[in-house]
Amino acid sequence: MEEQVRKRYQISDLIETAIRAREGAYCPYSGFAVGAALLAKDGSVYTGCNIENAAFSPSCCAERVAFFKAVSSGVTEFERIVVVGGKQGEDMVETTPCGVCLQVMLEFCDPDTFEVVSARTTGEYGVRRLTELLPYGFRLRD
Ligand code: THU
Repeated sequence: MEEQVRKRYQISDLIETAIRAREGAYCPYSGFAVGAALLAKDGSVYTGCNIENAAFSPSCCAERVAFFKAVSSGVTEFERIVVVGGKQGEDMVETTPCGVCLQVMLEFCDPDTFEVVSARTTGEYGVRRLTELLPYGFRLRD
């Protein structure tokens, strides 16, 4: 029970961090702002927001920004990611990562344990394992 309470608190903390990260979103083309907070196994947290581009394809999702910040800092083991998103100026909607971001997660995370949290508020969120969201992702096997 204590463990559950602790875990729950950690998730709402990460949601607040993701909401703050969302304020940095650069999304003049879609108007859809996304924030992410990625918890590493060592306890560190990396944030991300979506960054769009006039040429569209160079745009990057919030989740990948968070992962690339972490990996480029030498951190490669992760526990969970929290994602928040919605149209700017409107209520947030439950936002699940795109297929490209899920494939990036699969590169670094154990799909059976890594948690993807999609939150609307600090108290309303869904938790899914990576394997549920990307059951047949590509992996090199030896
Ligand atoms: N986006 C994210 O950053 N993460 C998601 O999980 C879904 C979509 C971004 C991409 C684009 O900048 C905008 O949201 C609308 O698709």
